[in-house]
Amino acid sequence: MTTSLSPPLILARGLTRSYPVGDGAVIGINAVDLAIAAGEMVVLKGNSGSGKSTLLALLAGMDRPTAGELTVAGHALSAPDGVDLTRYRREVVGMVFQSFNLLPTLNVLENVCLPALLAQKPAEKTRTRALELLEWLGLAPRLAHMPAGGEMQRTAIARALINDPALILADEPTGNLDSRNGRIVIDLLAQLNRESGRTVVVATHSDLADALATVHIRLRDGAIADSPCHG
Ligand SMILES: Nc1ncnc2c1ncn2[C@@H]1O[C@H](COP(=O)(O)OP(=O)(O)OP(=O)(O)O)[C@@H](O)[C@H]1O
Ligand SMILES: [Mg+2]
Repeated sequence: MTTSLSPPLILARGLTRSYPVGDGAVIGINAVDLAIAAGEMVVLKGNSGSGKSTLLALLAGMDRPTAGELTVAGHALSAPDGVDLTRYRREVVGMVFQSFNLLPTLNVLENVCLPALLAQKPAEKTRTRALELLEWLGLAPRLAHMPAGGEMQRTAIARALINDPALILADEPTGNLDSRNGRIVIDLLAQLNRESGRTVVVATHSDLADALATVHIRLRDGAIADSPCHG
């Protein structure tokens, strides 16, 4: 349970990412202020180009802001050299992408174990945890197969969870799925949020997650269009 005294899991102040283009700059996000408590299920919406992926990439430690402050789970991501970003990306966040980003030459189990092995976690513990996750996701019969079809995003969710991250970030996770598999993926993200108290941020054009969100954020031209509302 988060109390008003706990610092928010995500705190952004004036968060800005612009991209130099020619003599000018394109705004990715501009002066975004956010305070998200641990345990929320955040749905991030906005038209194409409104800055959803830019914001997620900053939260994921995959990109650096050009101005403003960003702290996630106590890591000051905006402070140059203040954070071991490789470690942050592996251990604090789990990322789920529209295009799955699985390695096609690895089977389901190997894809899931990879981030833990890269983080130098013990192989046997990693395998046990991967088997638990894959069982939960209904993928136990598919361990030795190459990931395919609707199971690809479930494999990617297991991979995102293998290092037990506090924050799950999903960028259009249903964008390449049919509606049945899209529903399954959104329900799994919501279940993770409810049952293990994990904070989830999902950027999506779909309405599938609306009813499950605890915080709704809409971006417009890189800025928050209306203040985040709960429920
Ligand atoms: N590497 C880049 N170089 C230049 N401009 C960029 C770059 N990445 C993003 N942008 C610009 O930043 C703005 C925000 O893009 P972003 O991809 O974050 O939007 P989005 O809300 O995720 O859109 P979509 O719904 O299409 O995924 C857009 O104007 C985009 O063109
Ligand atoms: Mg995007």
